[in-house]
Amino acid sequence: MIKISPSILASDFANLGQEAKDMEDAGVEMLHIDVMDGHFVPNISFGAPVMKMVRPYFSRIFDVHLMISEPLRYIDDFVKAGADIITFHVECDSNVQATIDKIKASGCKVGLSVKPKTPAQAILPYLDQIDMVLVMTVEPGFGGQKFMADMMPKVQEFRKAIDESGKDIDLQVDGGVNEETAKICVQNGANVLVAGSYLFRQKDYKQAVATLR
Ligand code: DX5
Ligand code: ZN
Repeated sequence: MIKISPSILASDFANLGQEAKDMEDAGVEMLHIDVMDGHFVPNISFGAPVMKMVRPYFSRIFDVHLMISEPLRYIDDFVKAGADIITFHVECDSNVQATIDKIKASGCKVGLSVKPKTPAQAILPYLDQIDMVLVMTVEPGFGGQKFMADMMPKVQEFRKAIDESGKDIDLQVDGGVNEETAKICVQNGANVLVAGSYLFRQKDYKQAVATLR
């Protein structure tokens, strides 16, 4: 089954609660929360206090994507703010194993992400410990960028490894996902679609989610 995770980075920040609720009503499985620190990526978004305020408006999965240099330092904050799954980057400065351990000990699910230039091999050694792989299909930092179709061999590589593992691991894609590129992602093995600008720029979220699905 395909799961859809709208990225609130593209939503109306003055109405975050309502935007989250509207997406739940539109039938999405998750809400994608993009946290940026202006260091790991060249942009600043928002942190745990903002996320905590949105939490009561969405009853399903809070899918937190940490684009920050030191995720280990902030895991407790995001757990307390209501994360269900915390994904961080294998390219970060924190110890990857210690960060996985910390997230798991908190009771949250854990995801690992790779930037476009990072090969699948960087994550494969951790595959049996994680719940989700996130393949970036743009350089992280900004919404509204063009989908990188050349990431599809990497998606295929992960699909193969996940199937071989026999484990229930989600394969998420993030960046430039729309009604056309979503098809390409799913054909290559992704099962969780993050979409920001494609979904939030449309008037009728229910229709937009249905079209994507
Ligand atoms: C990019 C973020 C994405 C972004 C996607 O750094 O991780 O989640 O919001 O936005 P779109 O769907 O507009 O490419
Ligand atoms: Zn993201």
